[in-house]
Amino acid sequence: MLFPTVIAALAASGQLAAAAPQPGLRLVKTSEEDPGQWVTEEQKWELFKSKGIGFIDVTDIKSEKFLQRLSTKPSARVSGRLVDFPTELSHIEEANGFIASASLEGPQSWLSSLAEYHTRHYQSESGQEAAQWFFELVTEIASVNPAITVEQFEHSFNQPSIIARLPGASEQLVIAGAHYDSTTGSATSRSPGADDNASGSVTVLESLRVLAEAGFSPQSTIEFHWYGGEEAGLLGSADIFAEYSAQGKNVTSYLNQDMAGYSPSGTPTIIEDYSDPDLNEFMNLVITEYTGQAPNRDSCGYGCSDHASATANDFPAAFIFEDLTDQTSPYIHTPNDTPDTIMWEAVERHIQLTIGYLVEASYI
Ligand SMILES: *[C@@H]1O[C@H](CO)[C@@H](O)[C@H](O)[C@H]1NC(C)=O
Ligand SMILES: *[C@@H]1O[C@H](CO)[C@@H](O)[C@H](O)[C@H]1NC(C)=O
Ligand SMILES: [Zn+2]
Repeated sequence: MLFPTVIAALAASGQLAAAAPQPGLRLVKTSEEDPGQWVTEEQKWELFKSKGIGFIDVTDIKSEKFLQRLSTKPSARVSGRLVDFPTELSHIEEANGFIASASLEGPQSWLSSLAEYHTRHYQSESGQEAAQWFFELVTEIASVNPAITVEQFEHSFNQPSIIARLPGASEQLVIAGAHYDSTTGSATSRSPGADDNASGSVTVLESLRVLAEAGFSPQSTIEFHWYGGEEAGLLGSADIFAEYSAQGKNVTSYLNQDMAGYSPSGTPTIIEDYSDPDLNEFMNLVITEYTGQAPNRDSCGYGCSDHASATANDFPAAFIFEDLTDQTSPYIHTPNDTPDTIMWEAVERHIQLTIGYLVEASYI
């Protein structure tokens, strides 16, 4: 159980519940107004995730500014945008050349391997093994271009995030990311997490493979991120974007890929909340050009995926989802989220739009 009386009292007094850390419990927020609730790992699942309620685990967030942003409606945020997003695309031929060499062969095999781990829950042993296996895979794929570095970003929990970096002429950062953990509730229950969210992870990895093998030498530096601990409240991405903000890194845009493999309508969707409106218009151009489909629009609520971590650190972010949110895979967060339910045409579209985005955005 929570401590409803205490929380109500704190909420009434307008104070953050954060004051006294509760040993063994985690502080999570489900909305801007939510002062924070101390819960167990199991309660994250019981109270929120199993009911489709988004949340952010703020226990380890130190930055006052970051915490303030998480308690402020996005419309009230100051934009940290460093560039103006163009209203037309300028590198279509070059991007299409890269897209032509993309394939589903790697993604199909990587996704099966990821789904074979009993679970990729961030607190499980197999979740750590998956992290190590994926790190080695990324390293091997990146090795065709010695300029690319691959590192494990360590967190306070035992599932590192993975970052591959393709240096550009400038230090400005263009980032595509996805999370690779999975969940069906506990650290021990079976959780193949094929659509949720191995599909996003392999989309980002295939984009890296194509650009690495082509020897693409970008204007801006490009980073490819794979986060641990997303299911536990955006832990990996919150850590990384807070660090990037503290270091004054210049992130010009972030594209989140989470669930890219189930799309009955065959149309990707721009998620319009907790994302940058101008970047979304730019993504509208990118998606239309590189997938041949005009995207749908939808929203996904507080803490729904890792773009929220970028946005709350004032980095312009977009989240392109596989379909309208009410048409998503019925299998996520269950043992039935398996590779055979993946619609590979959807993954193909997400690879096209990710490569298109990385190339176009790297010239801004
Ligand atoms: C997968 O992505 C969806 C959409 O962003 C998100 O709501 C969900 O929490 C993610 N699932 C996992 C296991 O991270
Ligand atoms: C970000 O850009 C500013 C202005 O160009 C520059 O002074 C600063 O060094 C950059 N930060 C990093 C970490 O590269
Ligand atoms: Zn999920």
